Amino acid sequence: MKELIRSRVIRIIYIHIIKPIFFQIDPETIHDFIVKRGSSSNKLTLKLFSLLFSYKHKKLEQTILGINFKNPIGLAAGFDKDAKLTNFISSLGFGFMEVGSITYNPYEGNPGRRLWRFPNSKSLLVYYGLKNQGAKIISERLKTKTHNIIIGTSIAKTNSKYTVETKEGIRDYIEGYKYFKDVGDYFTINISCPNAFGGEPFTDPIKLNLLLKEIVKVKTLKPIFLKISPDINQETLDKIIELCLKYKINGIICSNLTKNRNNPKIKVLNAPNVGGFSGKLVEDLSNKQIRYIYKKTKGELVIIGCGGIFTAEDAYKKIRAGASLLQLITGMIYQGPQTVSEINQGLVKLLEKDGYDHINEAIGKSEQSIKS
Ligand SMILES: Cc1cc2nc3c(=O)[nH]c(=O)nc-3n(C[C@H](O)[C@H](O)[C@H](O)COP(=O)(O)O)c2cc1C
Repeated sequence: MKELIRSRVIRIIYIHIIKPIFFQIDPETIHDFIVKRGSSSNKLTLKLFSLLFSYKHKKLEQTILGINFKNPIGLAAGFDKDAKLTNFISSLGFGFMEVGSITYNPYEGNPGRRLWRFPNSKSLLVYYGLKNQGAKIISERLKTKTHNIIIGTSIAKTNSKYTVETKEGIRDYIEGYKYFKDVGDYFTINISCPNAFGGEPFTDPIKLNLLLKEIVKVKTLKPIFLKISPDINQETLDKIIELCLKYKINGIICSNLTKNRNNPKIKVLNAPNVGGFSGKLVEDLSNKQIRYIYKKTKGELVIIGCGGIFTAEDAYKKIRAGASLLQLITGMIYQGPQTVSEINQGLVKLLEKDGYDHINEAIGKSEQSIKS
C-alpha cells in the first residue's frame, strides 16, 4: 500500500510539474542532462532514490539462463549508451539494464538533430546512429566499478562506411564483442539499428549466418541474445529463428525501433524522413513477433519483449505472448521514473487476479486465459 501511494505521488509530480518543463526543452538536451546528473549522483541520493522507487516481490523473481533477475523490467539499450548510469538505473528499481549499443570504434553520432517527441503517438523518433564512446573505454568503465544490477552489453557494428562490406562488418562486431568477454552478465548482438550507414545488412540471413558463425567461435559462458527489427517479414524471421537455434543463441529481443514509413500511423505524423520510432508505434509489431517466436520455438528461445510498455497491462500482454523478460525506455520518459515500480506492483496484482503463484506460470499463456 505504501508503495502504491509513493508511486502515485511521484507520478503526479512528474506529470504535472517535471514533464511540462522537460517537454519544453529539446529531448537530447534533457537526455544529456539526466545522464550527467545520474552519473554524478552520490551514495545518499542513490539510497534516497532506492527508497522512492524500489519494489520487491517473490512472484517476480526469476532465474533465467543462470542469472537471477529480481524483477522482469529492464532498461532497453540506447538510454545509457556509455555505461555511466549503472548505479542510478539500479536505484530506479529496474531488474536489469542493457548498456550501449556499443561499437568497436567510438562514434559521435549522426550530425544534426537526432531525437524528437511525438506525444500524441506516445513515441520518440530516434536518429542517434549508434553514438557511443567505443568498446575500449566503455569496457574499462564497467570493469572499474562494482554493480548491483544485471548488465547486458549490446554490441553493434561501428557506424561507418568502412564496416558496410560484410567481412569488415563481421570483423568489427567481433573486435567490439571481445572487449566484453569478461564484462557484464549477458550479450546482445544488435543487428537492427535503423540509423547506421549501409542499413541493417545482418538482418539478411546469409550474412547473419556468417556473423553468428564467428560470434560463437569466441568462447563465453554468458548468454547471447539477438535484437531484431520489428519490420522484418515472416520469412526472414523464420530464417533468423532457425539460425538462433543452429548457433545456440539463447534468446531474441523483440524489438528495436520501427522505420516502416508505409505504416499509416507513421505516415500521418509528418515526421522527418530519418530514424526509427519507439513506444506505442512499436508495441503491436513487437507483440506479434513475441507471440510468433514463442509458438514456433515452444519456449526454446528466451524472449525479451520490448516496445511500447507503459503500464502493467502492457507488460502482462507481452508476458502472456511469451516474453520472460521485458525492457523499456519510452514509457519511463512519458510517465516518469516511478513507471518501473508501478508496472511491477501492477504485475503482481494481475498474476494474483489470474491465480498464478509466480510470473513464470503466465509466460506464453494466451489472452483468453485472462479473467476480466
Ligand atoms: C533514445 C533511444 C535510443 C536508442 N538507442 C538504441 C541503441 O543504441 N541500441 C538498441 O538496440 N536500441 C536502441 N533503442 C531502441 C530501444 O532499445 C527499444 O528497442 C525501443 O525504443 C522500443 O522500446 P520502448 O518503446 O520502450 O522505447 C533506442 C531507443 C531510444 C528511445
